[in-house]
Formats: sequence, C-alpha cells, structure tokens
Amino acid sequence: MCGIIGYVGSKNSVPYIIDGLKKLEYRGYDSAGISILQDGKLVTVRAVGKVAELEKAALLENPQGTSGIGHTRWATHGKPSEENSHPHTDCSGEIVVVHNGIIENYLVLRAKLESLGHRFKSETDTEVIAHLIEENLKHVRNGSKEVCLLKAIQKTNKEISGAFAYGVLWAQTPGILIGVKNQSPMVVGIGKGENFLASDVPAFLKHTNKVLFLEDGEIVLIHAKEVKVLDKDGKEKKIKTTKIDWDQQKAEKGGYEHFMLKEIYDQPQAIEDTLRTARTDFGKILGLDTIGLRHLKEVHIIACGTAYHAGLVGKYYIEQFAGIPVSVDLASEYKYRTVPHHQGTLAVAISQSGETADTIGAIKKAKELGFRTLAICNVLGSTLTRICDSTFFTHCGPEISVASTKAFTSQITGLYALAISLGNANGNISQSVFEKLYKELMRLSKAMSESVKMEYDVRHLTRKIYKADRFIFLGRNVNFPIALEGALKLKEVSYRSAEGFAAGEIKHGPISIIDKNTPVFMLMPQDSLFEKMLSACQECRARGAFVVAITTEGGVAEAKKVAHKVIIVPQVNDFLQPILNVVPLQFLAYWIAKRLDCNIDQPRNLAKSVTVE
Ligand code: F6R
Repeated sequence: MCGIIGYVGSKNSVPYIIDGLKKLEYRGYDSAGISILQDGKLVTVRAVGKVAELEKAALLENPQGTSGIGHTRWATHGKPSEENSHPHTDCSGEIVVVHNGIIENYLVLRAKLESLGHRFKSETDTEVIAHLIEENLKHVRNGSKEVCLLKAIQKTNKEISGAFAYGVLWAQTPGILIGVKNQSPMVVGIGKGENFLASDVPAFLKHTNKVLFLEDGEIVLIHAKEVKVLDKDGKEKKIKTTKIDWDQQKAEKGGYEHFMLKEIYDQPQAIEDTLRTARTDFGKILGLDTIGLRHLKEVHIIACGTAYHAGLVGKYYIEQFAGIPVSVDLASEYKYRTVPHHQGTLAVAISQSGETADTIGAIKKAKELGFRTLAICNVLGSTLTRICDSTFFTHCGPEISVASTKAFTSQITGLYALAISLGNANGNISQSVFEKLYKELMRLSKAMSESVKMEYDVRHLTRKIYKADRFIFLGRNVNFPIALEGALKLKEVSYRSAEGFAAGEIKHGPISIIDKNTPVFMLMPQDSLFEKMLSACQECRARGAFVVAITTEGGVAEAKKVAHKVIIVPQVNDFLQPILNVVPLQFLAYWIAKRLDCNIDQPRNLAKSVTVE
C-alpha cells in the first residue's frame, strides 16, 4: 500500500499535500514526508508516525512552494524510520521520488548503481528509482529539461520490475510533476489552475471531483494548467476524465460502504502482492539455514483468532508437502502449556498486526526453548517481526476493518508457499512437483478475482436467512478451518450465534442443535471427500436444516439434489480451494451484519489489535 499525493498550482502546496495525506492514511501510517520546491530548491520534511507528526514538523520548517509531493508509508522494505520515509532523493538532492509498490529487482539495481558511485541513504527499494533517473539523465542530452526528464524516466521504467506507481519532482523543471503507473494505483485530479496526482481520489476530492484514471504503463506530465498522458508506447493519448459523485467518507473506502467490503474485494490484489516476492523471500529465509532444515523435526504454529484458523490450514500444507509433523496452538494456550523441548523445531507465529500480546508471549517462550522462529506478518517493524529470527511479509496493505479478511487469505497463501518451499528444500517434493505447485499458486489471484463476483448471490441469499438465531458451518480436511473461520466472521460482525465443525463430528453431538430452518453451510468442493459431505447434507436436511452447499462446478448437479441453495466457487487444486471457499462466508457475514444494522467495521467489544493478555 502507501499513499502518494502531488500538487502543482498557484498556491502554497503544503496544506494541500498534508490534507491529502491525512485522507490517505488508511493506506499506511508508519511514517510520512513531503518535498516542496521552494526557490529552485527541494525542501524535504519527514517524520515517523502518523501524518499529524509530519504536520508538526512541517509547521516548524514552514516550507512554501507551488509544487510538491507527499507520501504516507506502509513499510515493505526497511523498517519505519525517518531515513526510510519517502520522498527519497538522488545523490544531488535535485530529484525526489515518492513510490507505492515493490521494485522486485532493487538489490541488483542498487549494487549496479553503487558500483557507478551512487550513495544510498535508506534501506528502501524506492531509492533506486531516484538514482536510476539521475544516472539515466546523464545520458540524455537532447531536448528541453522536461524532455530529458521524461526520457530518463522512460528508460528507468524499462529497467525496474515489479509493481510501481511513483511521482517525481526535479528541481530543474519547476512547475512539472511526473507520475508513472504500473500495477499500483494512480489517479490525477483535474482542478482549475491546479492539478493533483494521487494514489486515490479522497486525497484531492475536496478540491476537484474531475478524475483521470491512469492505465498500467502510462506516464502523466502535470503542469498547473495542463495535463498530458503518454501511453505505454510513449504516444500522447487523448484524456478522458470521470466525474466522481462519492462523498469523502465513501471515497476513502474506495467507493464501498465499509472497509470490510472493500477489503474482501482487495483480495485478488493482496494475493498477487503477497506472492510477488514469496519465492525469493522463502528462498532466502530457508536458504540461510539449509543444514538446520534437513534436521527440522517439527513445526509449531502459534496464532490467535483468524490467524489461528490460517495456521490450521497451514498444518495440512506442511504435513502434505514437507512431510514434517505440525502442531497448531492458540497462542494464549501455548504460553501456559508444557511444551517438550526438541532439537529441530521451527516455531511459526502468524499475525496480521504483529502486536498481539498472546502471540508475542508465545513466541518469546518458543525462543526461550531454543526453537528457531519465523513470523508470518503484515506489518514491517512490528514487535513480532523484531523478535523472530526471520519474517515472511504478507503484502496485503493495512487492514482497517476489525474483522480480518484479506490478511487471512494472504496468510494461507504465504503458508502454502512456505510448505512447498520447505518440501522442496528437504527433498520431500521434487523440483518438478514444486514448479507445478508454484504455477498453480501463481494462478490463485485470478481465481480470486472470479470468486469475489459471487457477492450478489450471497447477498440475495441473506434476505431469507438473516433473522436465524443460529448458523452452522461444516467442512472437512483443509476446509474444516474454513468452517471455523466462517462462524467466527459471522459472530464478530453480526453478533449471531454461529459454530463451525468438522463435518464428520456432527453425529457425535453437535447435530442435536440443528433444528427446523437452521442455516447450515457446507464447504464441499468436488474433491475426494465430496461424497462424505453429501451424506452430511442429507443428515442435516433430515433434521429440517436449510442447507447451503458451497461447491465447485463439477459438484453442482449432485449438490443441488441435497441442498436448498448452491453457491459455486472457481475450482483450483484441492489445497488452494479453502482460500476461495472462505469468500462467500466473508460476504455472508458482511450482508447479515448489514441487514441487522450492526457496526460492521468496528463491532462491539472488539479491537483490531489485542495488545493485552
Ligand atoms: C478476526 C480477527 C481476530 C484476529 C486476532 C489476531 O477477524 O481479526 O481474531 O485475527 O486477534 O490478530 P493478529 O493477526 O493481528 O495477531
């Protein structure tokens, strides 16, 4: 994530930029910075923490200038610190860059630039952009300064890979702001005698609702009174603007009514971003310790709530692909139980926030026992990541809604990548099997884009059932934790009573709570356990339950015979299927809570990050 804002006009840009950054804080808030072009020189102010800290620092420094850029950061490379805050500069200090995304080949580029004499001041991937532009400018001499800058940026874009949207100011081209978009969001606000560049509309909505949405590969040149767009082939393109009729609050949620709904829809991107560097990240994490890996005897997964459910799925993955026994503990239990000490144990802590007190307490215990520790976490620089020996970052951006959705599916995605990487490293799966599994994983984001299209079906279904007192969720194997997660999500946001069970267990007790009209959700993709799930449907239906089958295309005909309603999710391999199967349950929780008029993003009694035991 991260938020970018740029302004070019006739007024002092600072209040516009600070205000825009406040509106973008939902995209990241660990540090922020601005660069303002003042009397031909760039003045940069940066601060760790929320934008309010930057505002205080900017008041002291008091820069003034009619063009400037700003950034609020959600750290991905380099801890949250002033040096790592954007904007970043080249060696001369004349070029400043703000960036959202990940430059995948930044280490190679950095080494090359350092060998050419460039001096780096931060640990970020972003800084390579500023130095590359500086380097490329040395080689383009023909044309005006503006043309030279443009050519240097075009060359830079050919050299960097990954997802990026960035803005550039050069002290030698006053009054010009350049923006680049490739797989990360970037929009332009067209005002009267002033124009804006931003990651998202709320940053400038107060000043203009005339918006130009950029396409991947495009470059925009922004002057106070003119905006030019070059397409991916460098040709000038006719500008087409859109009038936005959202209010400010809705705009911050990307046009959705609640963050929870927005974050459900963020999932294809979150998975893509999480996977972007997964292979190299795990390569590095596991590569550090190949000897230890060969001797890895067991894995302990530790987490709370939704992250614990992700861990339960991870157990199936690691045992299947790496052949290593796994225990999964609620962090609050792990801390207080006797954990036998074994050589060759890896403790994996899963946490969106990295600040959950129970998880931190448990991983500290694992460290005291001498286990190696790995965090799967969404927040760089968080306490958990500082304690653990290594960290795999899920790159799903800030999750604002208390009910976790995109962090959950990103965590499972990360666990799958971990399991197959472990299996490959310890020889449990061959290189060719590993490559096949990885290929399937890389197609997951596309399948997720299909899954989120089912909102309408689920929304329609909730009209019929939202007043039920109790909801039941059933699944088997990798889909059992999804049943638990479906129940947790519904409880959290709608305050309805909901329980998840392993489908094979209901006859051992829970079936007694099923009565007439109890909605029962069956997670039954067409896999080796499909027949058994059909039987469970029959058992519930015989007790009067309202049965909803969540299945894949191949299971529809059979499911229709036993269920009152069938919801179809795209088919992927059996192990990836739970990542898609949870989506209808997320929509279900959302729409029941909405119909019951609950406070969806901030449910009663809950906090986003539980920092007390
Ligand atoms: C559920 C939810 C909580 C968290 C749990 C752990 O929607 O959000 O159950 O999953 O409190 O939080 P993290 O992942 O931040 O450690």
